[in-house]
Amino acid sequence: GRKEPLVSCLLPSLQNRLRPSLWQFLTKAAQEAQQRGWHLYLVGGAVRDLLLAENHESLLLQDIDLVVDGFHRSADVGAGVELAARLREIYPQARLSVHGEFQTAALLWHKDPEFGSLWVDIATARTEFYPYPAANPEVEASSIRQDLYRRDFTINALAVRLTSPKEGELLDFFGGMLDLRSRQIRVLHANSFIEDPTRIYRAVRFAVRLGFEIEPQTEEYIRYAIESGVYDRLKLENHPAPALTTRLKAELHYILEADYWKPALRLLADLGALRCLHPTLVLDKKLWWQIRCVSRWLRWLDPENLLHHWLIRLEVLLSAIESSEGVKIATNLQLPKDSLERLEQLKTIEREVNSALPKCDRPSEVVNLLRQYKLASLILVAIRSSINIRRTIWHYLARWSQVRSPLDGNDLKAMGYKPGPQYREILDELLAATLDGKIGTREEAERFLQDLKARNRLCC
Ligand code: CTP
Repeated sequence: GRKEPLVSCLLPSLQNRLRPSLWQFLTKAAQEAQQRGWHLYLVGGAVRDLLLAENHESLLLQDIDLVVDGFHRSADVGAGVELAARLREIYPQARLSVHGEFQTAALLWHKDPEFGSLWVDIATARTEFYPYPAANPEVEASSIRQDLYRRDFTINALAVRLTSPKEGELLDFFGGMLDLRSRQIRVLHANSFIEDPTRIYRAVRFAVRLGFEIEPQTEEYIRYAIESGVYDRLKLENHPAPALTTRLKAELHYILEADYWKPALRLLADLGALRCLHPTLVLDKKLWWQIRCVSRWLRWLDPENLLHHWLIRLEVLLSAIESSEGVKIATNLQLPKDSLERLEQLKTIEREVNSALPKCDRPSEVVNLLRQYKLASLILVAIRSSINIRRTIWHYLARWSQVRSPLDGNDLKAMGYKPGPQYREILDELLAATLDGKIGTREEAERFLQDLKARNRLCC
């Protein structure tokens, strides 16, 4: 049976916390739905975040999910699309996008002066197919319940009715409110993770992000799903199913990019969920150290995140997979070209650096060797090498690669040197001398040039 709502009317709370433009939009959307004899619900993350927010805290929602449902009868499958198209007429600044397959539509605002950046999904309540036209009205009336039942966790399966009667009512069929209060991530049914293995990643993501616990029974379901081989279906190293791979990559991206990636990755590993990448992948002490070390180096050496730190973290995981399967998996995940190249070349560069670097005595020799490699490759090599190699690479990246000689090409010209290929040679000599501490100031550099000339190694 249906539970009595714990919160009587959520509309004032919504009105207080949403931007006025968004509140108005929802009011308008509800009116339009009502006129067509439909119900409109706010569902998913927006409801969860509304109920979680502290009193009076305003909500900066960027992502809103609405569901249209029949009132006395089931809404036609096209209801969501029809409502979105009508709202687009009222809000011409928004972009309308329709996904035919699931009969959902979205209205998007991009950096709008009123709406900011906002994505509103409008779907029609999805119900099971009933073979008889005169289906049981009780069943029809509860199509929103069925729609919610197909969702991932109880805290994401709450809805607020926006249309009357009982507008503002919280629909909580599965105990989501209790789980919000006791901070639990709980699935709605035992098959949830088998049906959609990316939910394992979502469970971890929500647990860590919200500071919730994965409810013990739910954790059992996760372990069972992994043990029974949900991820073996993926076969990332062979021919994975494209849709699942895309969603899994999106989840990996979310988790490895978030500032809470460390506890999230630990939790994933503890649950055995890294098996989605490869059956042998384990986050052992060494790998855990490597991935944290890489992140520290990246924070320091690439503060602008130009290298996409989440990708490099993923590469660290993939490069820990034995044989060359890591590259195959990266290819099937459709990682960018840069990433694939780095993974392909990693072993070769590692071998080259590890054999040549110990023979370099002076900083200038180190620079000469390492400047042919890119930053990200060197970082990956560094964390996989011995402490001495790692230290030298660090010196190179943090210091020596930034060193400039006190004189540049313009200075040489002003000093009367004839421009030409010999400039490169002179400048290299100057840089090497600077790196090795033989010269520091302009005067020292000029004297150094005189000496070179005197030794007849240069002609003006
Ligand atoms: N959903 C699901 N199973 C998935 C993905 C999504 O059941 N594998 C449902 C959930 O009910 C979720 C809603 O679709 O609330 C919207 O998905 P999404 O936008 O990814 O999540 P949000 O809950 O809005 O979370 P976030 O705050 O991270 O945007």
